Formats: sequence, C-alpha cells, structure tokens
Amino acid sequence: MSALHSTSETLGGLIAGERRRFLADHPRSAALAEQAKAVWRGGVPMHWMADWASPTPIFAAHGVGAEVVDVDGHAYADFCLGDTPAMFGHGEITVANALSDQARRGAGFMLPTATAVIVGRLLAERFGLPLWQAATTATDANRAALRWARAVTGRDRVLVFDGCYHGAVDDTFVSLASGAPAMKAGLVGQVHDVAAFSKVIPFNDLPALEAALAPGDVAAVLAEPVMTNCGMILPDPGFHQALREITRRAGTLLIIDETHTLSTGPGGYTRAHGLEPDIFTLGKAVAGGLPAAVWGVTAELAARMDEAEARIGPGYSGIGTTLSGNALTMAAMRAMLETVMSQEAYDRMLAGATRLVAGLEAVVARRRLAWSVVHVGARVELVFASPPPRNASEMREALDHDLLAVFHLWLINRGVLIAPFHNMMLVSPMTTDARIDQLVEAVDGFAARLESLNA
Ligand SMILES: Cc1ncc(COP(=O)(O)O)c(C=O)c1O
Repeated sequence: MSALHSTSETLGGLIAGERRRFLADHPRSAALAEQAKAVWRGGVPMHWMADWASPTPIFAAHGVGAEVVDVDGHAYADFCLGDTPAMFGHGEITVANALSDQARRGAGFMLPTATAVIVGRLLAERFGLPLWQAATTATDANRAALRWARAVTGRDRVLVFDGCYHGAVDDTFVSLASGAPAMKAGLVGQVHDVAAFSKVIPFNDLPALEAALAPGDVAAVLAEPVMTNCGMILPDPGFHQALREITRRAGTLLIIDETHTLSTGPGGYTRAHGLEPDIFTLGKAVAGGLPAAVWGVTAELAARMDEAEARIGPGYSGIGTTLSGNALTMAAMRAMLETVMSQEAYDRMLAGATRLVAGLEAVVARRRLAWSVVHVGARVELVFASPPPRNASEMREALDHDLLAVFHLWLINRGVLIAPFHNMMLVSPMTTDARIDQLVEAVDGFAARLESLNA
C-alpha cells in the first residue's frame, strides 16, 4: 500500500506545471482577477472565493444543472455546487419561476404570506418537527438555536465536537489542541474567550461526552449527524442513540445541524436514521441557493420557549434579522420542498453517488492507495488516509495541504470542480454518469502521476 504523501521536491514541478496550464487556459479570468483587485479587498467579494487552488479565481459566467461555465468558456463538471446551496442543480427552473413571480409582487413586507403557512406544513411533514422559524443563513439558525437553548435551560455552556463547523457562530470556535480546549486559530477581532463557555470533545467519544455533561451546566450539544467540515467523519454504530440517551439524562438539549447532511435523503439524516433532536437546523440548499435557513423545534421545547419568554419579559430578543422569512425566500422554499427535493431527485443523486463511490474505490484498490472513500448519501469525500479517521485530531494528522492543493488544481485543469475545502464532492440529481466518470478518470490520472513521481 502506498500513502503517496507529498514532499515539496516531488510535488514542486507538478504544481508549477499545473499553474502554468491554468493561466494559459484562463486569460479572461486572469484579466478580471486583476481588475477585481482594485475594487474588492483580496480580489473577490467574499474572501472564501480566493480559497481555491487555482492561481487566480475562476470567474463564473453561468451555471445550469450540474455544470458551471466560466468566462473563458470552460464547462466544468460541478461537484462543488456552490458548497451545497446548488445541491439540486443550478438554474432550477421551478425555483427561477417562483422567484420571478414573487419578485414582481414584492420581495418582503415584514408580514407573513399565505405561502409561509404552506412552507411550515411542508417542513413539519418532511422533517418531523412541528414548529418552525426562519433565518437568513444556517449560521443564524444555529445562533438562534443556541440562544434559545440557554434561555430555556438556564445553563450557560454549550458543547460541540472537535473539528466542527456550524457557520460564523462564535460559540463554536473552539477546538482541541493536544487534547486541551482552545479558541480556534486565526479568529479575527475576537475579544471574548469563547472557550470559557463552550466545551469541545472528540467526535465518537462517548465517555468524554458523559464527563462533559455530568456537571449539569451544558444547555445544548450542537452536532452534525456526520461531521462534514474537517474531511468526513462517520458516527460509530450506536453513537447517535447513545448521544440522545446521554443528553436526555443530563437535561441537555440536542441540536442537529442538517445543513450538509440533507444529502442523506428527503428528510435528512434525522429521518433516515430516526434521530430525535430537540432542535433541527437547516440552511444552504433549502431555498435553492437563496440566502435562507430554517430551524424546527419539538412541541415540548416550544412550550418551554413560551415559558422562558414570559420569564424574560419584553425587550429586544437579540435573535432575528430583517430579511428572514421574507416572501421571496418563502416562495423559493415552497418550490424546493414541494417540487425540487423529491424522492425521485434523491433516487437520482443517490444512484450517482453510488457510482462515484464505486469508481473512486476501484481507483484506490487498483493503485493500492492508502486512501479511503466516505459518504453520507450524495455527499462523497476522498480521504487521504486509510482507515478513515474517527475524529478530527486523527484527520488533522492525515491532512497534507500540498497534496490537496495540487489535487484540486489537477481536477480544475481537467474540467472538474470539487469544493475548495478538503475533498468534498456532491452529486446532484442533474449529474450525469459521464460527468461522474470524468471525475473518477481525473482522480485516476492524478494517482498515476503521483505514482510516477514516487517511482
Ligand atoms: C454544517 C454547517 N452548518 C452551518 C453552516 C453555515 O452555513 P452559512 O454559511 O450558509 O451560514 C455550514 C457552512 O458550511 C455548515 O457546513
């Protein structure tokens, strides 16, 4: 078995060649990148857009289905899908029509619309929690969930898993450094000691969970059902059942963030695996790429929220933003929930993911690589480690930033986009078998090239 890990000498020439190839093939993107530097700090409207492995950002012209066309005319097989919002395809016509119709009649009124009632029913039926609120991003949905959890329980701590990402939520910016909790590196302008009120433990570590909840000071555990933001880490068998039992016993609320694991099936991981969260949060794809998110609660929690509100009394809640729940996002969510996110769409994306997983596993086996393929429904991750890590500290050990960078650039130069963060690949209902095979062939070509470098 070959780990095919990089050394700067082995990869240096490959990286330089791939960078030259990109620049030769992307003159218009390179020219726009120069112009953008004069008006956008860092050359892009949001700094994550500069996180790609390409020497300049790729400027998008348009997207249709599972394809993105750039300003130089390259049509990419898109497995990034906007980092999830376009999970069901770009330019979805049902959503486009709903948006255009609602935009002509007004985007928002600070009043609910009749569509909101329909959307609430659709959410309750699909995800199983009876009462809902809207937010503008998954970040905001998670912030609201944590605030309410503290208000309801009267406890000040929250608990997250090492390596988590739940959006720009201050309470979650803690990680384990050599086993000890610490603020995440690189935080800008953070003056509060987040680690003072947030506990952080390794994923899949039930004794650590028992110990962290034992003092009775944790309002909520906020968790993705499968960790998708530090590579992909699957829960051990029985983990979720134990997580629920332990949180219930400790009087700690369980918030399940399905923003990425919506890839599992029509009702998310929660419905597919019978999870019983007190709060369920979801953003990104739920409004087809429009900024919108939702969070749902059990009837029991809703009653406790009413009691807490009465206790707190009138004033500004510190929760909510002006655009949340507006008419435009409700129209988009109705189109998504009623039409686009259908069982048939999931059947297609899950079949595509099965093909992708099989193709990647065949490459790993044929080339005897110490890599693994992990997936949750239509979301697939190629992990440069075998067996796949069970927690974030193992994942960090396996991370090879140089190898990742050249892998991503290799794929871009062969017409494939995957999310710029680790090796996340998302299959949409529009992704064709030919595009999946193109990705698998590109990975195989990369592995062959590494083999020849290491020979
Ligand atoms: C699991 C999870 N929750 C929440 C978020 C935050 O989403 P947004 O950036 O749309 O607020 C993300 C973003 O990647 C995420 O992966």
